[in-house]
Amino acid sequence: MSALKLVGLAGSFNRPSRTFALIENVAGLAAERYGFDNTLYDLTDVGPSLGQTLRRDDLDSRAKKVVDDIVNADVLVIGAPTYKGSYPGLFKHLIDLIDPHELRAKPIVITATGGGDRHALMVEHQLRPLFGFFMSHTLPTAIYASDRDFTDYRVSSEPLSKRIGDVVSEISAFFPLRNQALIAAE
Ligand SMILES: Cc1cc2nc3c(=O)[nH]c(=O)nc-3n(C[C@H](O)[C@H](O)[C@H](O)COP(=O)(O)O)c2cc1C
Repeated sequence: MSALKLVGLAGSFNRPSRTFALIENVAGLAAERYGFDNTLYDLTDVGPSLGQTLRRDDLDSRAKKVVDDIVNADVLVIGAPTYKGSYPGLFKHLIDLIDPHELRAKPIVITATGGGDRHALMVEHQLRPLFGFFMSHTLPTAIYASDRDFTDYRVSSEPLSKRIGDVVSEISAFFPLRNQALIAAE
């Protein structure tokens, strides 16, 4: 059975990044459970051409590859840092370069980080409607993490880990045979 592709995208330029640490944690557990082949990106991987073009055709090759990988993924793990109560503008610009049909029915885990808890509903009020536009299948459990859920840029809070476990379990609805095959092989 060939591995299904999981692509993670952190909408942050920072390295290290809490948002990247979060998608890495979710994606790692999902790969362990379902055997996904993971590729993770942040906005630094996309590079400077993103901010210099309004058209996908004008992106440089590394940015184009990121967009191609996103639209060809079997499952996406999206993470955005909260900027002024929403996702960053350049993250939205990257998503704007994707055609509406390209994310249709795609399973997407939505996650976000923020400095505190005040904007915890960012995942529900900003990220979920964005992927609702694409008619994607956003997973029921959305993950929001604040600074205090991390230690040295690693997920360190139990409630957050529990929520991550919940959403990883929910992925099985899309790949039931894969889950069973891996269990049988153990
Ligand atoms: C321009 C800017 C705006 C921000 N606005 C918010 C905000 O509205 N709410 C919030 O909780 N945190 C806000 N933050 C904090 C970041 O969301 C938080 O530190 C995030 O985890 C950074 O993610 P990263 O480490 O992946 O870059 C802001 C940070 C920046 C740089």
